[in-house]
Amino acid sequence: MKRRTFAKAAAVAAIGALAGPAPSSPADTEIELSPGDAGPVISPQLYGHFIEHLGGVIYDGVWVGRDSSIPNVGGIRKQFVDDMKRIGAPNIRWPGGCFADGYHWRDGIGKAAARPRTYNYWQRSMPAGLDATETNQFGIAEFLHLCRLVGAAPYLAANVGSGTPQEFHDWVAYCNAPAGTVSLAAERAANGDPEPYGVRYWGVGNESWGCGGTMQPEEYATLYRRFVTQFPAYTAPFLVATGPRGHSADGDIGWTTGFFGAMRGAMPPNGFSVHFYTDFRPTAVKAGDFTAAEWYEVFLRGVRLEKVIEDHWREMGKFDPAHRTKLVVDEWGVWYRAGSEIAPGYILSETITLRDALHTGMTFDIFNRHADKIAMANVAQTINCIHSLFLARGADFVRTPVYHVFDMYRSHMGARLVPLKSPVVEVNVPAMAGSARLAAMSASASIRDRQLTVTLTNPSLEASMPVRIRLTGGARALEARGLALTHQDMRATNTFTKPEEVKPMAHPVKVAGDAIELTLPKQSVTLIDCRIA
Ligand code: AHR
Repeated sequence: MKRRTFAKAAAVAAIGALAGPAPSSPADTEIELSPGDAGPVISPQLYGHFIEHLGGVIYDGVWVGRDSSIPNVGGIRKQFVDDMKRIGAPNIRWPGGCFADGYHWRDGIGKAAARPRTYNYWQRSMPAGLDATETNQFGIAEFLHLCRLVGAAPYLAANVGSGTPQEFHDWVAYCNAPAGTVSLAAERAANGDPEPYGVRYWGVGNESWGCGGTMQPEEYATLYRRFVTQFPAYTAPFLVATGPRGHSADGDIGWTTGFFGAMRGAMPPNGFSVHFYTDFRPTAVKAGDFTAAEWYEVFLRGVRLEKVIEDHWREMGKFDPAHRTKLVVDEWGVWYRAGSEIAPGYILSETITLRDALHTGMTFDIFNRHADKIAMANVAQTINCIHSLFLARGADFVRTPVYHVFDMYRSHMGARLVPLKSPVVEVNVPAMAGSARLAAMSASASIRDRQLTVTLTNPSLEASMPVRIRLTGGARALEARGLALTHQDMRATNTFTKPEEVKPMAHPVKVAGDAIELTLPKQSVTLIDCRIA
């Protein structure tokens, strides 16, 4: 940033700070991008998904049944398949969540009519008079069918909490053993799938510090080793160990220290799960109706994820300096208190607004910037739940504002991270504690061939932000396309009756030699796709 501009921005920020909680914003922000120095590949897996047997996620959200009048492909909601394909969903995590540590995979195979009805962990959260009995109509074959339709890699969470290593190994063999080898492969073939599923991603338990067994990290490390030592070698696995509750007040570093300390001498996992919820359950903050302070509070808490990633990565490096184990942020999203469910039994479903879309943009920018550390991430959860891309109830279906951010960030998937320099200008914003400092903008950039993608979020409720993106190293901008997701109402949402209220619109971008110029609307996420020479 030019000295004059930086001084101006700093002055504006300072004025905001002096003036109290009124938001302030910098002007004429300059960003420097170095496409010639592109870094790590942003794994497409960072844009992954999670669906759990919980409320209306699987039954009705994903699975409408083969005899349903709702358009479906073998029982799977067709609109869901089409939209997941459209955004290039790279993976889907299943069957939980907390549900996974009570799930026995054999209950979900074979003739649908003969499958047992079983207890679901989420029974405890159901409203009085409603129950969560699991019908097991959606099992491993149905899940793999969904993955194939979408083109997504399956990521299975195995039952460590109430299962055994043998049950886990049998599930792996059932999924991956080639036809004609073991009896489990023959059983899979008899159930309609002669070809192995080739499942590579396996979570060894879920939240083992909580609903997955209330264990200490050392106890879990012992179990982890027992579960993976005899892992059947059909498909080279990517094993994910349970990691910390990243949204704990202390970041839960103790879990990471304890687990890796107890793993000394053993084969490290490929992935180490971090759960990070922007968690408003213990507060009065609501999903659909909120104040300006509550708008900013979501971002203030959401961006703490960056420090959580850095802290755990540093801690892991003490035990594994070569960083053979990567982070897997396999649950993330904004979790509000109950009250905006789309149906009484659809527990954890919530109204998704423009605020959640901006949180998504900031989260993806964090993932992109740490592409060297993160192997995978999974939004919690894709449909009818926390931070969802879709809401569905019977024949009704709607894409939320979060969906559009997934769509807008598609070009980053598999592209290489471009170093980005911009002055870290913090501004004073209203917050639940009165006021707080928040970065005035979030950004990340990537390149594939000569196609540059830049994503920018302006959280200000007050002011648009003129931005000049300067390309270094002789790169020249040839042509650019802009797309902005915003709305004049910060609480704007898409509903079954108004499904297109929040959607991206073409946004003017000017190219001038080594520079791209645009103005970020207030309260917006903006995408720039630019061809460079
Ligand atoms: O996503 C909802 C729940 O949140 C998951 O089941 C659990 O892993 C987490 O606590």
